[in-house]
Amino acid sequence: MKKNILLVLMTMTISLMALAQNELLIPDTLSGTNFDLTLQTGTYPFLEGPVTNTMGVNGNILGPTLLMNQGDDVNIFIHNQLPDTTTIHWHGMHVSPENDGGPHTLILSGETWNPSFTVMDKAGTYWYHPHLHRKTDEHVTKGIAGIVIVRDAEEAALALPRTYGVDDFPLVIQTKHFDENNQVVTHSNNDNVVMVNATIDANLNVPAQVVRFRLLNGSSQRVFNIGLSDDTPFYQIASDGGLLQESLQLSRLQLPPGARAEILIDFGGMEGQNLQLMSYASEFPNGIYGATHPGMMSGMTMDGYDPNPINGADFVLMQFTVVEQGANPVLNIPSSLVEVNPIPESSATRTRTLNFTPEVMGFNQLNGIFLINGQSFNMDVINDTVTLGDTEIWTLHNQSAIAHPFHIHDVQFFVLDRNGAAPPPSEQGRKDVILVKPQETVRFIAKFEDFASEEVPYMYHCHMLVHEDGGMMGQFLVVEDAAGTELNGKDDRMVSVFPNPVTSGRIHVQCKNSMDAYELLDSTGRIIIDGKQGSAVKGNFDIEVADFPAGIYLLKIYSGASLYTKKLFVSNQ
Ligand code: C2O
Ligand code: CU
Ligand code: CU
Repeated sequence: MKKNILLVLMTMTISLMALAQNELLIPDTLSGTNFDLTLQTGTYPFLEGPVTNTMGVNGNILGPTLLMNQGDDVNIFIHNQLPDTTTIHWHGMHVSPENDGGPHTLILSGETWNPSFTVMDKAGTYWYHPHLHRKTDEHVTKGIAGIVIVRDAEEAALALPRTYGVDDFPLVIQTKHFDENNQVVTHSNNDNVVMVNATIDANLNVPAQVVRFRLLNGSSQRVFNIGLSDDTPFYQIASDGGLLQESLQLSRLQLPPGARAEILIDFGGMEGQNLQLMSYASEFPNGIYGATHPGMMSGMTMDGYDPNPINGADFVLMQFTVVEQGANPVLNIPSSLVEVNPIPESSATRTRTLNFTPEVMGFNQLNGIFLINGQSFNMDVINDTVTLGDTEIWTLHNQSAIAHPFHIHDVQFFVLDRNGAAPPPSEQGRKDVILVKPQETVRFIAKFEDFASEEVPYMYHCHMLVHEDGGMMGQFLVVEDAAGTELNGKDDRMVSVFPNPVTSGRIHVQCKNSMDAYELLDSTGRIIIDGKQGSAVKGNFDIEVADFPAGIYLLKIYSGASLYTKKLFVSNQ
C-alpha cells in the first residue's frame, strides 16, 4: 500500500497535487422486496466553513442504492419527514401511473406513501428523485437522488463485474451552486462546484482489472461530455434502459441530465497509476448548457451563467487510483452482450409531434420559460391521450436556441433518427432521455403497454430541472379505449368526477344511479365529509375543496348493494 501511494505521488502532476482528494462516498445498498425510505433534512460538510443544509434519504445526502430483481414484487414505504410536500418518482422504470410518483402523487409532510409494483424492467441503472411541480430542482439539488440497480437472468449470464462497491460502482455526477454561506442555490445558472456521489475532488481506489461504473447525470441543467484523461478508451455497455447489443469502445460519451450509462474501464496493468474521469466540455458546440455559450448564438446570455470556469472547459469529475487486483477479477471486456430488438417503424399506428419553443422569442430567450406545443404545464390539463397497446412515433422539434434533454415516463423508447440520420450506436439501445439540440428534429418509437388509467397521467418533460419547474412539461393518459377518455362520457362508468386533479374551488361529482350516501376520506382514512345523514343526493353534486390541504382523497359512493370509489387529487397551486 505504501509503495502504491509513493508511485501515485510520483506520477501525479503538480496541478493534481494541488487538489485535496476526498474518498468517494459510496451509497449503502438496500435489497430484498421491502424497502423503507425516510426523506429527511440534514447537513453536509461540502465545503470549508459552514455546513450545507441538505435533504437526503435515510441520511443527510443522496439515498441508498436499491437492488431489485426483475420479476420481484416490491413494496416500498416512503416516509416524508421533510417540512414540505414532495413526491418520489422511479425514473426509467415501467410502473403503473399510480406507482410512478409524478407530481399528482403527493406525499404530504409527515405522511407515508406505499407504492408496490412488480419490477418489469431489464437489468440496468435507474434512479429515484422527487417530482413535485415547481420544486423538483429544489428537492433534487438539496440532495434527494438515489440509484436503482435492476438485475435479471440475461445480465447474470454475462461475464461482467457486478460486486457492488468492489468492481461495480454508481457515480452520481452533479454540479451545484453554493452561496457565500455554503448553502445550495436552487434554480441557478451558476453551478460551478463539481461532485460525484456528493464528494468534491473525489478519489476512488480501483483494482487493476475491469471495473463497471453506472453513470448518472443528476445535475439540474448541465450536460457532461464524459471521457478519461489522455483519451484512454472505455466501453459503454448500457444506456438508460439496459444493456446494449455489444460493448462500444468510446473516448467520449455525451450524458445529459437524467440520463444513465454503464461503462467498463480496463485498469489491468495500471497498478499505481491515476486516471481522471473528465468532462470535455470545451468540445461542445454552442447551444448546450455546459458549452462556452449556452445559446446557439454567442450573444444569447443566461443570467448567472458567466463567469464560470467550467463552462466550455475540460474539467475533472473525479480521480481513479489503481491499486492491486482483487479476488475473482473480470479481466476482459465482453464484446457481445444481449439481443436488443428495436421496435420496427412499421408497427407504429400513430404519430405525435412536440414542438419546443421559448415563450419569448429572440436573444433573451434563455432567461424565459420554454413551452411544449405552445403550452406551459397545467396540472388540470391532459395534453395527450394514448391508447393502451399502441406503438407510437413521437417527433421532437426543438425550435429554441438551447438543447433540451427530453424525458418521458412509462416507456423506454428507441431513437429512429436525428435530423433524418440514424442515431450514433451509443443511442441505439433503450432510452428514456434524449438531448434534442437547437433546431434539431428527433424521432423515437415506443410501445405503451401494461398500464392504463383514466385518472392518473404520466409526464413528459425537459430534464433540465429549471425548465421542468418552469413548465416545460406535459402529461398523458394511457387509456384502454381512447374514445372513452372524457371523464364523464362513458356509459359503463357509474361515477365520474371532474376536474381531477383539482387545483382550486370545487369538484363536480356525477352519479348515474341513485345514490344512498357518500363519504369523503383523507389519505389517512379519516372521514372528513359524511354524506350519510339525510344529505344523500341523486345525480350531480359538488364538493367544495378550496380549503382542503393538498393531497389524495377517497370518495366512496354507496348505491344499493354497490360501493364505488374514486380517488380525488387536490393540489395546492
Ligand atoms: Cu427523472 Cu419525470 O423525471
Ligand atoms: Cu422519469
Ligand atoms: Cu429544457
